[in-house]
Amino acid sequence: MKPSPASIPLRAKSRNLLFSPCVCCPATETNPLSPAAERENPLTLWSEFLNNKQRTIHKWKHYFPAYEAHFSRFVNRPILFLEIGCGRGGSLQMWKRYFGPYARIVGIDINPESKTFEEDQIEVRIGSQSDLPFLQTVLDEFGTPAIVLDDGSHRMHDIVETFRFLYPRTAADGVYLVEDLHTAYWDEFGGGLRREGTFIELCKSLIDELNADLSRDALPATEFTCSTLSMHFYDSMVALERGRHPPSKDIRISGRASLLKGLLK
Ligand SMILES: C[S@@+](CC[C@H](N)C(=O)[O-])C[C@H]1O[C@@H](n2cnc3c(N)ncnc32)[C@H](O)[C@@H]1O
Repeated sequence: MKPSPASIPLRAKSRNLLFSPCVCCPATETNPLSPAAERENPLTLWSEFLNNKQRTIHKWKHYFPAYEAHFSRFVNRPILFLEIGCGRGGSLQMWKRYFGPYARIVGIDINPESKTFEEDQIEVRIGSQSDLPFLQTVLDEFGTPAIVLDDGSHRMHDIVETFRFLYPRTAADGVYLVEDLHTAYWDEFGGGLRREGTFIELCKSLIDELNADLSRDALPATEFTCSTLSMHFYDSMVALERGRHPPSKDIRISGRASLLKGLLK
């Protein structure tokens, strides 16, 4: 039989495969996991948000480029996304559309009505973000989150408690993002400029912990030092990228001989 034009490249590709191509979901150019498909997809989270026809979403405009910067590598991956604070349920649906069919979206809220936001891929558990045994039950049930987004009470005490508990329990290559941090400057949320105990003040000291290795023993390296790659500060938002962070090592490069010297030392 004369092969159809579509089957030729597929068969050529399968020669390099360890396993036979799956018959129920053949690898094609439109496979949602292929980077090519991601590049060709013109949809962004921002257009998702603007075209929302489902439940109400409540976000600030300027958050979207930051979401894209930190979250896009998780699109079409089988991740657990944990959002603290469900509001009217629209953000849970937006994350589901954005992360794709393999994502599991879990919302946490103190308002029992949030339970009605559950649907395929979206589950909601009712409890307070500062109730640590409750958070543990969520982790026991769903596993390790790849991303934690804190959009809950916005109170400093709650944000700090939640962060201390969940940050070390977020995936080793995950992201922890706290939004609406203007409340760190607002008295009614426990905030205030340079006021002790705010999440912003905590982050300022975490910058020192991030640099502990090179502090000439001024600070010991902590669990945070070893598990954090970077901290990102935006208007009202902080994002922390987790990743193995071995002690820093510099390399001087100027020509082949010194390159080898630097790499092999
Ligand atoms: C700003 S809304 C969330 C908006 C939603 N994420 C969105 O983008 O549309 C804040 C939510 O946090 C919830 N909340 C307030 N205090 C909380 C707490 N201590 N623990 C968990 N959720 C809390 C509120 O019930 C409310 O639904």
